[in-house]
Amino acid sequence: MAQTLLITGCSELLTLRGPAPRRGRALNELGIIADGAVLVRDGIIVAVGTRQNVARLAEVRGARRLDLGGRVVLPGFVDSHTHLVFPASRADEYEHRIRGKTYEQIARAGGGILSTVRKLRQTSSDALKEKALAALRLFAAHGTTTVEAKSGYGLDAASELKTLRLLKILHQEQPLDVVPTFLGAHVVPPKYRRRPDAYVDALVKQWIPSVAIEGLAGFCDVFCDRGAFTVAQARRILTAGRACGLTPRIHAEQLAHTGAARLAVELNAASADHLEKIDRRDIRALAKSDVAATLLPGCCFHLGLRDYAPARALIDAGAIVALATDFNPGTSPTPNMQMVLSLACTQMRMTPAEAIAAATINAAYSLRRQDRVGSVEVGKYADLAAFDVAGYREIPYYFGVNHCWLTMKRGEVVYSRESLSLTP
Ligand code: NIG
Ligand code: FE
Repeated sequence: MAQTLLITGCSELLTLRGPAPRRGRALNELGIIADGAVLVRDGIIVAVGTRQNVARLAEVRGARRLDLGGRVVLPGFVDSHTHLVFPASRADEYEHRIRGKTYEQIARAGGGILSTVRKLRQTSSDALKEKALAALRLFAAHGTTTVEAKSGYGLDAASELKTLRLLKILHQEQPLDVVPTFLGAHVVPPKYRRRPDAYVDALVKQWIPSVAIEGLAGFCDVFCDRGAFTVAQARRILTAGRACGLTPRIHAEQLAHTGAARLAVELNAASADHLEKIDRRDIRALAKSDVAATLLPGCCFHLGLRDYAPARALIDAGAIVALATDFNPGTSPTPNMQMVLSLACTQMRMTPAEAIAAATINAAYSLRRQDRVGSVEVGKYADLAAFDVAGYREIPYYFGVNHCWLTMKRGEVVYSRESLSLTP
């Protein structure tokens, strides 16, 4: 029998309805319904409107009811850039940086990504799973319902496969959607330090085909930056990925201006992420393309840097701006998209509405899931997050606070702050 659920008590229901992705002024259009309601059947939205209009539908009879008590309701956040699976924090490096060392100095001395790689290789899949599950519970508790997740802390065949297979299990065994990305090209592992092109050969000829054959990832990513991979290497890797059915995404222009953003445009990547160091020509090229410009302000905040990506110029030029946490142990250890909204508003001068559109519908577009998630519309998953605020602007405004009161994934409550009265 079909399970029907009527959700009422949405003081503001931000539907984000309409065409996706959003560019320019359309980023400010949230499709707000005052005193909104949503009708859900078997996890899929079947009606959206004012309480009055939805409550009079015939299907409402016999439905279970959930009253959100006047909360502000959004589509669940879509976090389109995370490094979900890692063995431990790097809080020691945090202190080294506070005392004056830079991220790149620490990496050159064998810390950084490679220190996480050494630990991950020695950590069992079960132990990694416990950590990732705890993190996913935190994502849910902060209103996120879809999480992209990259490999990239294994960097040998066995450990990369261990990570990707774990991502598949995580997707199956807990409620949030986990969208896997192969990031074998995170940095060159020590074994290949003197012959990085041999590592690229292994990725292109062996690893990417195996990942694709086992169906372990939908995307292929490269950290294309100073100290990681060159534009020419990234082009080879991403082209090989595409030939195997993996859509390209790329870490671009975070530490230095390398041409990685232009490569993303050349390859029509799903997303170019970071972009702190882009110039005016990159902005124009991105704006004319269909590549999402995914901004990760948590990195600048956590690294104590001032060069946030030029969100305003990107939006005003017409680029598809998305926001994500970049949850990882080195540069952005937060699963909290609300904090990312606060940073987007105060540090990058995005309006609260633009930030919300960037963290929902545009992020969904960058994961090629805009038909299923990222807005509250008929036919989409009932992925919702309710916030205990007087209006949506207060979500970023009261910063550093978790306002999330309830999170729903495909019609099931996956987090609630209080015990709920679901009737009957
Ligand atoms: O997105 N830039 C490369 N990757 C991560 C950092 C990973 C780490 O430091 O562990 C990022 O910032
Ligand atoms: Fe990253």
